[in-house]
Amino acid sequence: MEIVVSGIRPTGNLHLGNYFGAVKNFLRMQKEFNCYFFIADYHSLTTHPTPVNLHDNVRQVLAEYLASGLDPEAATIYVQSDLPEVAELTLLMNMNSYLGELERTTSFKDKARKHPDNVNAGLLTYPVLMASDIIIHQATKVPVGKDQEQNLEMTRKFASRFNRIYNTEYFTIPQSFNYGEALVKIPGLDGSGKMGKSEGNGIFLVDDEESIRKKVMKAVTDSGPTEPNSMMPEAIRNLFTLMEVVSTPDTVTYFTDKYNSCEIRYGDLKKQLAEDIIKFNAPIREKILAIRSDEAYLRKVVNMGKEKAHISASKTLREVREIIGFKPF
Ligand code: TRP
Repeated sequence: MEIVVSGIRPTGNLHLGNYFGAVKNFLRMQKEFNCYFFIADYHSLTTHPTPVNLHDNVRQVLAEYLASGLDPEAATIYVQSDLPEVAELTLLMNMNSYLGELERTTSFKDKARKHPDNVNAGLLTYPVLMASDIIIHQATKVPVGKDQEQNLEMTRKFASRFNRIYNTEYFTIPQSFNYGEALVKIPGLDGSGKMGKSEGNGIFLVDDEESIRKKVMKAVTDSGPTEPNSMMPEAIRNLFTLMEVVSTPDTVTYFTDKYNSCEIRYGDLKKQLAEDIIKFNAPIREKILAIRSDEAYLRKVVNMGKEKAHISASKTLREVREIIGFKPF
């Protein structure tokens, strides 16, 4: 059975782009593989959140992923800091990771450049912590986006280095993983590019009706086609792409026809799109709010995940300590 590990940064809310991207893949993976999904709260300490923010952020992402369909019975869902074995493994792995290679990683260089006043050691050794997250469960597959590929490459390097140093094949070397078929890329509403947190163009699952309407009504459009059946400019194409995921096929056909006959009124299209997004989001949003305030449920999920994750983590730690040569007297 393939073992999948993926970490979720506890920052920001899920937007439609995440929902039709990472989340959709998680929902499929949890049915097909032995999955470990965790909230990466140790990692988030590199930016020094306040204790209140740290906890709120962890609770919020957890609630959002559960509301989106992550299933604590199917997958092992846990909070990273509930697994102190990860911290111990990181300490051990740190002994064989080198300053030069850590300094050369793109994400370290980026962050160091953007925040020159906070180049802490945790930032430098971020890839070692991430490697430990992965190898502690002997993951075979890690679903990664482009931005995490280098970190996964480092994981492979650290795991094989350990194997080489101790002349063992103990650690599984994880592969990056993507489902073959491409996901629909959810565009932003600002005319070009995808929906993203840093782009500031996200429609979030927790957004209320009014803010969804506002965001959609502000979407970039143009003065409309003048020739029948003309090519859609990107901004307009994007509105249709969103419609294709939240609206009925009839609605899409209706507005496509209007576009092709040059009778389209973007105001009408946006109104319809906003209502369809609201309808799509509503049940998920209600679930997020309900789960977020259900202390007992959250506690149950987190404790269950912690227990399950602890089984493989403690086994790995015990074996690694033995390989390294820590012997009981
Ligand atoms: N670094 C990942 C990110 O920024 C989060 C992460 C931490 C992770 N540990 C992981 C992802 C282990 C996959 C596997 O998104």
